[in-house]
Amino acid sequence: MHYSRVSTPASRTYSAATAVLMNEILKGLISLMIAFSRIDVSPSSCESGPVQNCLLRTRKLWRDVLSPDCWKLSIPAILYVIQNNLQYVAASNLEAATFQVTYQMKILTTAAFSVVLLRRKLYPSQWISLLCLAIGVGIVQIQAGAGKHDSGTTLSDAMDPMKGFLAVVAACFTSGLAGVYFEMVLKNSSGDLWVRNVQLSLFSLLPALAPIMFNEGLYSPSAGEGLISSLFRNFGAWAWATVLVQVLGGLVTAMVIKYSDNILKGFATSLSIVISFLASVALFDFQMSITFILGSAVVLIATWLYNQQPTRVNLAPTKEPWL
Ligand code: C5P
Repeated sequence: MHYSRVSTPASRTYSAATAVLMNEILKGLISLMIAFSRIDVSPSSCESGPVQNCLLRTRKLWRDVLSPDCWKLSIPAILYVIQNNLQYVAASNLEAATFQVTYQMKILTTAAFSVVLLRRKLYPSQWISLLCLAIGVGIVQIQAGAGKHDSGTTLSDAMDPMKGFLAVVAACFTSGLAGVYFEMVLKNSSGDLWVRNVQLSLFSLLPALAPIMFNEGLYSPSAGEGLISSLFRNFGAWAWATVLVQVLGGLVTAMVIKYSDNILKGFATSLSIVISFLASVALFDFQMSITFILGSAVVLIATWLYNQQPTRVNLAPTKEPWL
């Protein structure tokens, strides 16, 4: 994502809003296909021919998608769209590795929302590790604010670390709240994961379209340019690759939340620090400082420490109206 944003001058970069919209459409279509294939139909209807069978499945699928409680997905849908847009702002203004380390603060926000909304209890060692996590991120920020690195890319001088940092912090809040809310909906109701994902994508369409509608530069195509081609202006291979990685990441995230939980997800994603650090060295000639190494090490140790305890969870069905 960082490379796709900074490898061309700002005037020739692609629209992040279009990328987010494409992400939601593709995720929705894939989820729809999986949900369709998982629909249970009675053996007798299978005997009535493929067309009949297909119609039955379609009708059942739409009944599930438009279930009375589908509105619950509107909340995480809006939050995820905001988060996905913020990620582009952050990745455009921070070094990839710095972004990834700072983004680990979502463990902190996820834990806070898990305690409040899921009534999850944390062990003292987990509170301590959260404190260490915040300290580690702070240390990494010292190097991010201390000056620009030679990222070897066209736009590295145009990066604004403070703007990037604020975008990551906001993304951490939406990530924590959306993730925990999605987990609550999944585990407090009987809906199929893939049907829930279709609902999530459907509710994402409107907020994902909003920045496109309100961004005049995009919505008013230049002379001779159609609306679709103006949306996909400068949308090259790197932009599509970014969208595909986001789609894959989103689908995997949904499965992790379903079969594990949000807090454990933090542990898995801490691996992303190591991977993005290695990729940054290869792609951007990233020069790490002692503060970066120290901060990243503190974040990794804090993440490891946090996940040493078994999760204590209270997922008894709740009576809250918003569930
Ligand atoms: O950073 P975090 O793990 O919170 O990112 C979650 C990502 O997964 C977001 O991009 C969100 O759109 C995506 N997601 C999804 N389907 C879900 C849950 C999350 O596509 N059911």
